[in-house]
Amino acid sequence: MRRERKVCNMRRIGMLTSGGDCQCLNATMRGVAKALYGMYDDVEIIGFEDGYKGLMYADYQIMKSSDFSGILTKGGTILGTSRQPFKLMREPDENGLDKVESMKHTYRKLKLECLVVLGGNGSQKTANLLREEGLNIVSLPKTIDNDLWGTEMTFGFHSAVNIATDAIDCIHTTASSHGRIFIVEVMGHKVGWVTLYAGIAGGADIILLPEIPYDIRVVSDAVNKRAKAGKRFSILAVAEGAISKEDAALSKKELKKKKEGKLVYPSSAYEIGAKLQEMTGQEVRVTVPGHTQRGGEPCPYDRVLSTQLGAAAAELIRKKQFGYMVCVKNGGIDKIPLEEIAGKLKYVDPDSDIIRQAKAVGISFGDE
Ligand code: F6P
Repeated sequence: MRRERKVCNMRRIGMLTSGGDCQCLNATMRGVAKALYGMYDDVEIIGFEDGYKGLMYADYQIMKSSDFSGILTKGGTILGTSRQPFKLMREPDENGLDKVESMKHTYRKLKLECLVVLGGNGSQKTANLLREEGLNIVSLPKTIDNDLWGTEMTFGFHSAVNIATDAIDCIHTTASSHGRIFIVEVMGHKVGWVTLYAGIAGGADIILLPEIPYDIRVVSDAVNKRAKAGKRFSILAVAEGAISKEDAALSKKELKKKKEGKLVYPSSAYEIGAKLQEMTGQEVRVTVPGHTQRGGEPCPYDRVLSTQLGAAAAELIRKKQFGYMVCVKNGGIDKIPLEEIAGKLKYVDPDSDIIRQAKAVGISFGDE
């Protein structure tokens, strides 16, 4: 939907939300917008619909300041979002449209001073590409995964941890009634931050992360040890991308070949569950909170972080400091050049204090 208006001499700032959503996209846009409206009398915010797609196809709305009121606590994104894979950015669309040229054209036609991008890893790569192409970009670190390089924290992470922790808490009460193994599958294909935090916060007995490949015998021993000690149940927090030591040692091609003709499980949690049931003789149940982890209201921590990061992004625009992502550094708000972060992920370090401390209280990571 396009609401055209005559191009005037107003200062125009474009804004878009890109990739998987999280609870704090609206809270963060509100932070940017309120700070901009406070700085300038002549600012107009152009909201692109469904992420980079809106910039490509010139689908946008001219936002009113009232659009940013009452959205601090509202999950989702008032602009809509979509995944536009970075690796396809240089490929024409189905009608032969050059996506990058088209985004540049929209930016220039609208006489934007800057484009504000709220996005995760892939979206930051595209933001950097647009910077290289000469656009003024300020970006903000969005993702429940907390896997963006160059920032200690992303907005969305703590809200997702709260939901995943609630799921484990709920499983705890039912687990205490039944003598079973319960697996809660937590979001995170490549990194395990949400699983690690929710697992510790929810008192999981075993936590399996993509960064720490597991040995199923070690996992099953940990469950059996609990059963021998008289514990009626065991709870596992398993990341979507949890992987066995054997599989982690294989190349992508070898892994594909190994899985050919084998039973296909809906996800790794189900595969682990099936193996554990066979190895321990205990009943297993799998719970997948899935996209609930990205839904609902942002938690208070995230509302504060979103507001701080939003205001900091507006400040960069005021100072004409473009080509940066606002970030959290040493507990404070800072900025980092886009070229330094693009394409890098922040993984859980298996030798970090948090892993050592979790092991010290008896949590098994299935590795030793
Ligand atoms: O990147 C955020 C995330 O929620 C991941 O944790 C999850 O693996 C993925 O997105 C799910 O993606 P989609 O919403 O496209 O299914």
